[in-house]
Amino acid sequence: MTYKNILVETRGRVGLITLNRPEALNALCAALIAELSQALDAFIEDDGIGAIVLTGSEKAFAAGADIKEIRLMTPAEAHARTFTNTWECISRCNKPTIAAVAGYALGGGLEIAMMCDMLLLGDNAKLGLPEITIGAVPGGGGTQRLTRAIGKSKAMEMCLTGRMMAAEEAERAGLAVRVVPAADLVAEAVALAGKIASFSLPISRMVKEAVNITYEMPLKAGLQFEHRLFNLTMAMEDQAEGMGAFVDKRPPTWKHR
Ligand code: CAA
Repeated sequence: MTYKNILVETRGRVGLITLNRPEALNALCAALIAELSQALDAFIEDDGIGAIVLTGSEKAFAAGADIKEIRLMTPAEAHARTFTNTWECISRCNKPTIAAVAGYALGGGLEIAMMCDMLLLGDNAKLGLPEITIGAVPGGGGTQRLTRAIGKSKAMEMCLTGRMMAAEEAERAGLAVRVVPAADLVAEAVALAGKIASFSLPISRMVKEAVNITYEMPLKAGLQFEHRLFNLTMAMEDQAEGMGAFVDKRPPTWKHR
């Protein structure tokens, strides 16, 4: 498969997707999102892939929706191509995902990073929802996911001023796993994804599902959901292998079932 706006490679059990539209700071045009969705689907189907890293360039993860492409859209056209339908390919992905973010992650750029399961930041990352500065409102989940991630006051301030948050502040606010030198970002993200992919895939899928359900369920239902997942693992070959290997004092060999 050849892509025009992204680069796709595998590193062991890790799928790596690099947004690659440098002339527009990786602005998220419809063609780029379609390619991203295709590449993700291919990694989802590939049993050899256990985790996925999404990254951009050192200058920009992505500077948002493509303003030149969307600026003349009518409400009906905007409705027809709702960001939630097309961009949510990332949040629908059933394998663990890491956004490795260096440089600008603005508007839709930050929104797709927050659709991933976690963010790893380069030390030059600049994150923001500047839609208000161009007469718009975040449309890809920004007001919802940022508020859940960093709390109402800070999210409100960022959305109402369009201010960019530097990497260190974003980490302190709980938006990211950690900050690493921008030059090491992809290697660090692939190493983290590789660690995740070294475990049983159905188990990591369940962990991801259990953490994400926090956003959808009240605590009591979430606790029940988690407990039932735990019970289900007791019927899995990888549970028998993992606990057996612990008792035998040997490394486990996962069968991913
Ligand atoms: N859409 C389309 N093109 C963009 C773009 C975007 N979001 N961001 C940057 N570009 C283009 C610029 O137009 C420019 O192209 P030309 O050379 O052809 O003029 C090129 O990328 C380089 O950009 P700059 O010259 O502006 O680079 P800079 O270093 O001076 O500034 C920046 C960088 C601060 C990120 C600035 O480009 C900027 O503010 N970009 C827009 C950010 C923004 O408003 N994002 C929100 C978009 S709306 C959205 O995302 C809605 C949603 O929630 C779904």
